[in-house]
Amino acid sequence: MESSISSILENYPQNDRGSLIPILQNAQKEEGYISPEVINKISTHLRISGSQIFGVASFYSLFRFNPPGRNSIKICLGTACHVQGGYFLLHTLQSELGIFPGETTKDRKFDLERVACLGCCAIAPVILVNNDIHSRISVIKLKEVLDKYE
Ligand code: FES
Repeated sequence: MESSISSILENYPQNDRGSLIPILQNAQKEEGYISPEVINKISTHLRISGSQIFGVASFYSLFRFNPPGRNSIKICLGTACHVQGGYFLLHTLQSELGIFPGETTKDRKFDLERVACLGCCAIAPVILVNNDIHSRISVIKLKEVLDKYE
């Protein structure tokens, strides 16, 4: 990780704050997330505090601060899914996995994210695991779905 962020930083002049977003994009492309070590390195290179970098990066939903899991769960909390019990499913997922949205399980089996609409409201409530849509999810079905993934 150290070497990849160092080689990314070599492409950008020191103290150039305008380079922050492209540096973050490249770092995430390499590592899959923005680690505290990466933030420290960028901080030294651009002379911006770590909290400023975190503030900018957390404004954009494309940046993540935890390593991705082997499987990514997106739970839909758009209107159609919400009225069909989306928040109940979210709480079940949180207690089953022991994580909140934006986090990754300790064994890195799953990461969890909440989204506004997955574009298939007619089959709500839905969750997306990797590229698989699971429709009309119930709590029982949710546990069966989780068991399918390694
Ligand atoms: S609101 Fe969930 S798919 Fe549209």
